[in-house]
Amino acid sequence: MLQPADVAHLMGGRKVARIVYQPSAIAARVDELGEEIRQAYPDGELLVLGLLKGSFIFVSDLVRAIERPLQVDFIVASSYGSEKVSSGNVRLVYDPETRLEGKHILLVEDIIDSGRTLNRLVELLGARKPKSLEICALLDKGLADGVLSKQARFLGFRAPNEFLVGYGLDHAEDFRHLPFVASLAE
Ligand code: IMP
Ligand code: MG
Repeated sequence: MLQPADVAHLMGGRKVARIVYQPSAIAARVDELGEEIRQAYPDGELLVLGLLKGSFIFVSDLVRAIERPLQVDFIVASSYGSEKVSSGNVRLVYDPETRLEGKHILLVEDIIDSGRTLNRLVELLGARKPKSLEICALLDKGLADGVLSKQARFLGFRAPNEFLVGYGLDHAEDFRHLPFVASLAE
């Protein structure tokens, strides 16, 4: 098991308060999610649509665990600057070129916090007449339960209400490359 002291050389001086999800725990859960997703889509075209940048590592692991034909694309929505709180301002910066109509769309998100980003995306993507639209999130802080127009059908972990970094998640663009998820010390 990795301890905060073991990863100090990755952190550029910031301290890890604790490692919340170890690489092995993430890998095991991603494999389970891949199997859940395979079973949920017995037929039809599946497009896994990753929300950049935060989902890039999760998507790359997840698609390799989904043992069925599928396509991958990404969408870029921007809602956070370097702030730790959601602005609620969701901007689509890159729109997938793939046709969504008639396909099963699985929108993959790194973490659900206020849920604002997802609500806006569900509205935008739903308008393109997919065959179905579901959400897969690695983490959910459980704060958006009454707010989300659509819950995550596939969820990695119920996360603690702490600011988390690693495995794609950043703080001001740092720490995305960590192979674990950690909370930062103040
Ligand atoms: P929401 O719109 O408030 O649900 O914010 C979702 C987005 O905010 C995520 O896709 C992340 O990019 C970012 N975010 C929310 N919570 C965290 C966190 O704990 N660490 C890093 N990024 C976060
Ligand atoms: Mg971010």
